[in-house]
Amino acid sequence: MAKAKIKFADVNVTVTVPVGTRIIEISEKVGSYIAYNCREGDCGSCFFTVLDGADHLSRPSALEKNTLFAHFQSILDGWRGAGDIESLQAMMRRENFAGKECRLACQTQVFGDATVSPL
Ligand code: FES
Repeated sequence: MAKAKIKFADVNVTVTVPVGTRIIEISEKVGSYIAYNCREGDCGSCFFTVLDGADHLSRPSALEKNTLFAHFQSILDGWRGAGDIESLQAMMRRENFAGKECRLACQTQVFGDATVSPL
C-alpha cells in the first residue's frame, strides 16, 4: 500500500500514513489543534491550512466548497455589521485568511507528502 508523510506544524509531528487517509483521522491521534465536530463536511469547524504540498491532497468536493463558502460568507456578513472602522479592523485581524489555503480536515485525503496546520 502506498504511503505519504503528513506533518502537523502546530505540534511539529510528522507521521507516515496510507494514501487516502483523511486529515481528521490523523490530527486527532497526533494531538494537533485542528478542531472538529460533525466529521461529515457540514459544520465547518475542522478548518486547517496547507503550508506545503497542496497538490498532494484530494481536491475539494462540492460539499467542501459549499461549506467553506458558507463559512466565509458568514464572516463577511459579520464584517458588514461592524459599527465602526476600529471594530472592523479588529475583526479582520482576528480572522486573517490572506495567503492561506483553507480546507476541511474531515473531507481532505492525503495522496502525498504535505504540511498542514490549524487555521
Ligand atoms: S468536522 Fe464538521 S465539517 Fe469537518
